[in-house]
Amino acid sequence: MSVVKESEGIKEYIKKTPKSKEFSEKSSLIMPGGVTANIKFFEPYPIVMEKGKGAYLFDLDGNEYVDYMLSYGALKLGHGHPKVLQAVQNQLQDEGTMLFGTPHKLEVEMGTKVMELYPSMERIRYTNSGTEATLLAIRLAYGYTGKYKIAKFEGHYHGGYDQVLQSVNPKVNDAGPANNPIGISESRGVDPYIAEQTIILPFNNLEATIEILTKWKDELAGVILEPIQGGFIPADQDFMDGLRKVTEELGILLIFDEVKTGFRISMGGAQQIYGIKPDITALGKVVGGGFPFGIVGGKKEVMDISAPSAFSDVFDSSQSKHSNAQDVLFHSGTYNGHPTILAAGLETIAVLETEIASVFENTEKLKKGIVELFASKSIRAQTIGIGSIFNVVITDLDEVKNYRDLQQSNFALRKEIDYHLLVEGIYMKPLNRYSLSTVHGETEINRTLEAYETVLNKLF
Ligand SMILES: Cc1ncc(COP(=O)(O)O)c(C=O)c1O
Repeated sequence: MSVVKESEGIKEYIKKTPKSKEFSEKSSLIMPGGVTANIKFFEPYPIVMEKGKGAYLFDLDGNEYVDYMLSYGALKLGHGHPKVLQAVQNQLQDEGTMLFGTPHKLEVEMGTKVMELYPSMERIRYTNSGTEATLLAIRLAYGYTGKYKIAKFEGHYHGGYDQVLQSVNPKVNDAGPANNPIGISESRGVDPYIAEQTIILPFNNLEATIEILTKWKDELAGVILEPIQGGFIPADQDFMDGLRKVTEELGILLIFDEVKTGFRISMGGAQQIYGIKPDITALGKVVGGGFPFGIVGGKKEVMDISAPSAFSDVFDSSQSKHSNAQDVLFHSGTYNGHPTILAAGLETIAVLETEIASVFENTEKLKKGIVELFASKSIRAQTIGIGSIFNVVITDLDEVKNYRDLQQSNFALRKEIDYHLLVEGIYMKPLNRYSLSTVHGETEINRTLEAYETVLNKLF
């Protein structure tokens, strides 16, 4: 268990969650840090949940929470939506298996739906996570262009592997000038050679981005970005238009990582809102209906380089065509296109098609209410975001446009508020963003605003 200076919020948190504390002490003997994904950890120990239902989570101590993490945004219909549960059961019963290991109907059904909502995705492939989706997107960019560097933006997350685990959350003092950031690896064990192949760009700074891309154009296969940084800081429209134009001119593929924004910002993701057609898109989270899933799609000519019918690959057992690394882009996976997950994802899309507008309305109500409560205490705070994601940023800046702006905000106060909110039954990993679902209604929003009021009254 890590040692942290105990704030009042943390002290109350510890009082409220003794069983989680005890559990974490035991789980640390099983899993490093007591967790099986580093993101699940926060200090002094994470809450251990036992049950989820609708908009609510219930922990080992029997505490009830309105859940705004929703598994990092994945659960847009909340916990255990009856229609998704039914779709999963039907798939298992009707099709009689968990896994075909062959092509099957739902692969095409989901693909057709996704291509209708995301017209830039002219061909698609399935993966088992968002991480795998961006990994495949980058390989496609390498394979298509024959170039082997990738550019990413400071503060953007695309998964946990070497090429992109760069400058996600660097110390600003170590990260070079704002308009020409240097790459900082975010993990032990990242191969320094691979790290060097990643070029870091400043988000929402078109001039500097163009300069860096132009310098590296002969080596850059693609630019990958979260079109809405962290799911909540939007790119300026001019920035997005300029980025699309310059990448086209320089022969660099534009990759939208819409793992957070897909089906959350709008049904058609950020690309629908910006009116931009990226060359490649990665999706995940919501579209898996709560199961591990990812989709990669893009221009036909880019995607088709992975077609084994056209090219031989490592699994071509006929030996009629010899595997030729210059021809083929290898992509495979035992669980790709898992039927149960596709059934859950398709049902999730169907529900969202009729209910997404109400999620946006409720999100706006909550955002407005939170800002008003801060204002009543003369604290400058913003609820930044589009669609069903936002973050609470306590800052004196008029606008937060990128990672460095965000770093200037008052994280210490935000964190203290978050621990107090946990005590009041609002579940949010401290400092994380808020995501809403179709089952977050007036009751939950009022309850959340009351909790905010209680906390702010306690602190000020
Ligand atoms: C924008 C973005 N890309 C990729 C990933 C990785 O997805 P996964 O955790 O499913 O591997 C995430 C996860 O949070 C993400 O937010």
